[in-house]
Amino acid sequence: MSDFTGRTALITGSTSGIGRGIADKLAGSGARVLITGRDLERGHNAVAEIRAAGGKADFIAADLHDAASAKALAAEAVALAGEVDILVNSAGIFILGPTAALTEADFDATYNINVKALYFLVAALAPPMAERGRGAIINITTAFAEKGAVGPAIYGSSKAAVGLLTKSWAAEFGPSGVRVNEVSPGAVLTEGTQRVFGEAVHDFPNGTPANRVGTPAEIAAAVVFLASDEASYIHGASIAVDGGMAI
Ligand SMILES: NC(=O)c1ccc[n+]([C@@H]2O[C@H](COP(=O)([O-])OP(=O)(O)OC[C@H]3O[C@@H](n4cnc5c(N)ncnc54)[C@H](OP(=O)(O)O)[C@@H]3O)[C@@H](O)[C@H]2O)c1
Repeated sequence: MSDFTGRTALITGSTSGIGRGIADKLAGSGARVLITGRDLERGHNAVAEIRAAGGKADFIAADLHDAASAKALAAEAVALAGEVDILVNSAGIFILGPTAALTEADFDATYNINVKALYFLVAALAPPMAERGRGAIINITTAFAEKGAVGPAIYGSSKAAVGLLTKSWAAEFGPSGVRVNEVSPGAVLTEGTQRVFGEAVHDFPNGTPANRVGTPAEIAAAVVFLASDEASYIHGASIAVDGGMAI
């Protein structure tokens, strides 16, 4: 198992779901994790539970929606921890519906968190990693970034943008020792998918090889691998952890 002792990981969207699973696994492997999200209660609970399990964790409240909010989070993380060695971008929203039914507000909300804030967080944290000659950034995208379907046009396109950003940043920061990769989940059982889709979340994987929803821990396993030195030759890659949904 990888040992992240002495490294700090900032995981956006780690008050819930996939981000929380990633935080648990990184903390369990020795990393100091910085939990972040808007919900103070869930944030403080996550920190308490990780510490109770013997891990190192702190919470930074952040509502990510623009460049200023992303830069403020980066500054707080650096002020708290000194440096960020691993950045996982898991904060995101998924609003699905027929194209004409979705609103400009839906479009802006999706792109503001899924693309814009993510972009400026990387812009703030990747250069210092590059100066130190070491770092790992993992973006969480989706099987719907590659797959045409009725409903996820705004959501999938926002994550497709992140897919291209992943490759662009791998080219830009990789030569300085910063590896940038992505994990592309299929349908995963989380607080978010239960809230948005209810029991219907279990229908998404029908007919896929796995034929079931995934767990945050299954996504986290791939993220931890990409963050580790075991993945030292992997740049700009996308690992599908989707039960075969994208094939
Ligand atoms: N679950 C799936 O089936 C699935 C599949 C493919 C990809 N994904 C991707 O995986 C990521 C996590 O999904 P999930 O299912 O774990 O969702 P979730 O349970 O709803 O968790 C979303 C996280 O993002 C944070 N967040 C949302 N809006 C935010 C904002 N404006 N500012 C700061 N933080 C914000 C939430 O924190 P607060 O509520 O505390 O703000 C929460 O911690 C998303 O990027 C999603 O697109 C999920």
